[in-house]
Amino acid sequence: MSEVPLHIGLRGIYVAKSSLSYIDGAAGKLIYRGYAIEDLAEKASYEEVLYLLWFGKLPNKKELEDMKTFMAEEREIPEQVVEIISKLPKDTHPMDVLRTGVSALSGFDPDLPKIWGPKINEYKEENVRIGLRITSKMPTIVAYFYRMREGKELVHPRKDLSHAANFLYMMWGREPTELEGKIMDMALILHADHGANASTFNCMVTASTLSDLYSSVVSGISTLKGPWHGGANEAALRMLLEIGSPDRAREYVEEKLRRKERIMGFGHRVYKAYDPRARILKKYAEKLAKETGNENLFQTALEVEKVMVELLGGKGIFPNVDFYSGQVYHMLGIPTDLFTPIFAISRVAGWIGHVLEYWEENVLIRPRFVYTGPMHQEFVPLEVR
Ligand code: SDX
Repeated sequence: MSEVPLHIGLRGIYVAKSSLSYIDGAAGKLIYRGYAIEDLAEKASYEEVLYLLWFGKLPNKKELEDMKTFMAEEREIPEQVVEIISKLPKDTHPMDVLRTGVSALSGFDPDLPKIWGPKINEYKEENVRIGLRITSKMPTIVAYFYRMREGKELVHPRKDLSHAANFLYMMWGREPTELEGKIMDMALILHADHGANASTFNCMVTASTLSDLYSSVVSGISTLKGPWHGGANEAALRMLLEIGSPDRAREYVEEKLRRKERIMGFGHRVYKAYDPRARILKKYAEKLAKETGNENLFQTALEVEKVMVELLGGKGIFPNVDFYSGQVYHMLGIPTDLFTPIFAISRVAGWIGHVLEYWEENVLIRPRFVYTGPMHQEFVPLEVR
């Protein structure tokens, strides 16, 4: 093969234009449609951010209320899907349950059969309804499975709570406090979109063949599960619990690095500075640590961060969103294996937003391989092989 440019892992390669979000990796900044993530996390709701990502502007009161009403109506899932997830072994990873549940939901969507076909990307209104249905039902799948494996009664969705508060309500069977609801809403905003990350890109690859939104979101869930992507929040917390105390952090980190192993929750393909989302979550982790008696965990995290920045900061390796998100969820009392599903119920906004945008001028995503195998092989019959 003649010499061709080879970009393993598509490192540094631009594959589409998008106006949804921009990451300044050197400066450690993130904006959604021009708004700083710090402003949105502090002042907006997840529903407003979803609207911003899909439609390009913050909603006015009526637009927001109409969307929230539709979403609240769509939170419940068909009993057949409840039945399907109830049949899964109780130790099934919740990301596998979520992937299975979303897949099953596709059979019950009223709009999908009407638009399925070579023009699926032209049915904008139907696809927005499908997208809102998926977004509204994913938290229900996660919460229902959690209640099932705990042997508890299902807590059905309420229509009067926010997207974030209703998720916690369905998990716990009680209304979250204002602080709990605010923190979950803020966490959903921080994870909602992040450029061409692996799971978003995978959703776009699926959609570029004119498959459907359910299939795209199943692709996204499957990709996000990996510990080099969304699964890092679960792995990072398990690591902190394993370290156990601040005075053991340095030895643990140095030993891992000596073995060429990676410290979950650090490093990023684009950020070569502190992840701005980690900076925001760290503030809440510190606040919650005091209120929930988790100072030892937080101090251990600070020590891991200090050692990692000392050893690898020069290579542009800093904490990423996953390092502090797991601590915040843990301090809220959320089980560790639900951390990545929470990432998914947030990121579905970005996944669908990017598919809707890409479908405006759809192009099949199909790269090339550099062939390194043999040429001109003579076929030899089985008898003489
Ligand atoms: C998310 O893309 C996104 O936007 C993702 C995300 C989003 O919102 O969608 O931000 C969410 O996935 C955050 C990242 C979560 N993953 C982790 O925390 C897993 C640990 N991180 C690494 O595996 C790594 O940093 C990646 C995969 C995230 C990025 O890796 P790159 O850009 O491909 O860099 P690389 O693997 O080529 O590493 C460069 C060097 C290597 O050392 P050398 O071979 O040059 O000696 O840095 C080292 C790596 O070994 N390195 C690490 C490290 N991350 C990179 N060493 C130790 N610990 C780490 N965490």
